[in-house]
Formats: sequence, structure tokens, C-alpha cells
Amino acid sequence: MLSRTIEMASATDLAGFRQAARRLIVEQVPPEAVTWTLSYQGLGDLFAEAPHAPTTAPAESTWAAPPQAPPPLVPAFFLPLCQTAILHREPRRFALMYRLLWRLQHQPALRHDTLDEDRGQLEDLARVVRRDMHKMTAFVRFRTVDEGTSPEPLHIAWFEPDHHIVEATAPFFQRRFTHMRWAILTPERCVQWDGAQLSFQPGARREDAPAADAGEQLWLTYYEHIFNPARLKVKMMEREMPRRYWHNLPEAALIAPLVASAHQRSGGMIERGPQDMVKRLPKSMPLKVSTAASAHDARASMNLAQLSSACQHCRDCPIGEHATQAVFGEGPAHAALMVVGEQPGDQEDLRGHPFVGPAGQLFNRAVAQLGWDRQQFYVTNAVKHFKYEVRGKRRMHKTASQAEADACLPWLEAEIAQVRPKAIIALGATAARQLLGRPVPITKTHGQWLKRESDGLPVLITTHPSALLRAQDDARAAAYTQWLADLRQATEHIPA
Ligand code: URA
Repeated sequence: MLSRTIEMASATDLAGFRQAARRLIVEQVPPEAVTWTLSYQGLGDLFAEAPHAPTTAPAESTWAAPPQAPPPLVPAFFLPLCQTAILHREPRRFALMYRLLWRLQHQPALRHDTLDEDRGQLEDLARVVRRDMHKMTAFVRFRTVDEGTSPEPLHIAWFEPDHHIVEATAPFFQRRFTHMRWAILTPERCVQWDGAQLSFQPGARREDAPAADAGEQLWLTYYEHIFNPARLKVKMMEREMPRRYWHNLPEAALIAPLVASAHQRSGGMIERGPQDMVKRLPKSMPLKVSTAASAHDARASMNLAQLSSACQHCRDCPIGEHATQAVFGEGPAHAALMVVGEQPGDQEDLRGHPFVGPAGQLFNRAVAQLGWDRQQFYVTNAVKHFKYEVRGKRRMHKTASQAEADACLPWLEAEIAQVRPKAIIALGATAARQLLGRPVPITKTHGQWLKRESDGLPVLITTHPSALLRAQDDARAAAYTQWLADLRQATEHIPA
């Protein structure tokens, strides 16, 4: 049996693998006769895996021109499985992929055998790769560098993935941080986004990444405050945040001392007894209360810019995990009027500013018609992250649950405490409910000023602009006129 040696141009050269595998199938070369190697820097042996190299050319086998033959027939699962499994560092992945391909050609029933051992091994590789990609999306921490050469600062992160996942994971960061300039450095491959396109460079060293910045110190202070010793489950925490990632996570430096003191701190909480908690907290609050109290202290000491920066890291509810970024309020630090919407929409989520999408445009139109200037008031939302479900290619707005909106309430209250407006406009039911602490029927109360119990601030209730956009054609004009009339009542709080 004639043996073959196939040189792959890089560790993730799927195009090269497909081309070579196709020839091998056509020439009836069985898997046992093939040795797969990496050509990079002549480090041929797959058992001494070379670093990931840029793909310069598809893999070339050592024999003649490609035969004009149809591609091998493969079931639908095969290619996606190879696309992910090839990113694993396992040196035998090419051989495994080819063996399964070969067997699929010779044993047609195999395509239905989900328990096949080769397929199972590839699926295991793919699972590990997906997990590595997920961890990269969760544990990359950017540090801001102001090079002074661009109005936009550069955000740089250092990360050490286990597998060849940088290219495959880069589009996630491109989507999430579209409006930032950023770079992620790893030992094997670096990726950069300049606001318009992704580019990839060879690996870097840890020292190439910048040291901690001021934003990080704030994040650490916040993390320390929200750490709840009574809820500490070390095993679970380690499962979610494996120790091997800790050395690159700023907050991990706090974990060891916080864990060490947790027993003592939670013991103290138990000794102080339940009265201590009951006195400070409403009954319905979950166990997280002591955390909430200290997080409140942390927020109380922050200005608006610091709050906005800390809010980017908030994961007190699951929405933030899927949003591009937190969209914090904007406007003069001590505006007399604050306008509160529900939550950022698709456009706001991508651009990082409140009310810039279709609802924002309608709002701007009303503002212009009222003779107001948007620069004169502070605009924010009750919920800071975009909650959505994906339908086809679109991200459709989903209303935040009460628990999710409540998790976000401390950010809104911190904004109110900082801005100290004289009055607030609540756009829609979510804003009204969060501001007033009770459900408010908009159809009955729109145009009325209701008082907040906590600080006596007057809140003008009115419709959310999205409701006007959704209104039937024949009702829209009247609803808009009514909305203008509601809003006009706040004119006294717009500086002349
Ligand atoms: N809807 C809102 O409530 N807020 C926004 O920022 C955008 C749409």
C-alpha cells in the first residue's frame, strides 16, 4: 500500500484538509496509509504541534494534480463538526477527520450512527473548542490605552486560549464592541478591530499588553462590594471561572483573600442574627441583600462616568451577557429634567447611546416640535442592557422581567442621586413602574404628575414612543398629538 504524507499549511487549514482529503478519497487511499503533518517552519510532526501560522496556501500533498472528480458525499453534520474540531490542539484531529470521512464513504449507514466512536471523538473535540471559545468571550478583559494619536482610545486585552480559536471568536468581539477600537493579544495569534475591519497578526507576549488602568480599579472596588460571603460556593465558582483563567482576570486577585475571609464574614452575619437584616431590608428582597447594600455604597461614591464604566460589567441579571454593551444615560450632569425610557433597542445597543434608533428619532421629532433642546436634559433607561430574541437575522426586543428590571434599578437610582433632577418624565410602563415602585396604568394616568415616595420627585407619566410607532395608522396622529400635550407639561423644567 502506497503511503502518503500530507502537509497542512497551518494548524486550522480546513480548506487544505478538504482539498487533500478529496484527492485521497478519489485515489482510494485508506486512512492507515496517510500521515498528516504541519508544514509550518518545517516542524513536520503533528505530535509536536507547531504554533498556529497564517494560512498562506492550501495544503499541498506530495503527489500530482487534482483529479477532476466530484467531492465525496458527506452528511450535513460532517463539515460543521470538522470546522470546530479542527480548532482543537489535538495532533490527531486531521487523521480522525479523514478516517471518519473515509468510513462515511464506505459504510453509508454510518451517517445515522450517532454513537460511532470516531464521530464521538470529533464531537468531544468540538465541545472542548466551543467551551474554550465561550470562556474567551467571558474572560477577555480590556484595558484602555490612550495613545494620543486618535480621538478614540485603544482597548487591549491579553488572553491565553487553550485552542486555535482566535479567528473563530473574533467576530463575537467585533459585534459586541463595534464602536470601540480594540486588540486581543494571545501567545499564538493577535486580532485587532479598527472600527472597520478585523486584522490578524502573529502572537504576542504578555508584556505587550498594558498594565491595569483606572477603570479596572473601579471595577475591582465594585466587585469587592458585591461579593457576598454568604453566597460563596467555591466549587461552582471554579466551574464557571476555572482557575487557569484567573491569572489574567483582574478580579481574580481579589478572589483568594475574599474567599479566605468569607467564612469569617458570613459567620459574623449569622451571629448578628436575622434582625439585623430584617431591619434594613424589605421582606421580598432575596438573600443577595447584604450584597445589594454594599453595592449601593460603592455606587454612591461614583460619579456618572464611573457609574457608566462600572455598569458595563454588571451581570446582576442575565441580560448583560448577550448585549453588546450597557447603554448608560447621557446629558448634563445636573440637568433639571431627566427622561427615562424602558431599555436600549437594537441600534442603541450597537451604538452605545440611548434613544438613537427609531423610537429615539420620534422622540427627537417631538423634542424639536416642543422647542426643546435635547442637550438640556438627561436621557436614560430603566434597564441598561438590550434584551432580545433572535428571529432570523433580526434581534427582536423582549421586555425585561420584573426581576431583571429590579436588578437594574440601583443604576437608575444612582443616576437620579447624581443628577438630582427637579422632575422626571417616565416614557412608558416600565419606566413609570421602576420610578414609582408600583404598576402605573399609562392609559389612565398619562399626562399626570405622580410623586415618588422615596424623594418626593414629580414624575410625568406618558406613553413610550415605541407604542406610537406600533399604533395603527388611523390612531397614530391622534396619539402623537396627545403625547406632545403630555410632554409639553415638562416645559417649565427646560432652561429658557
Ligand atoms: N427605547 C427605549 O426605551 N430606550 C431607548 O434607548 C431606545 C428605545
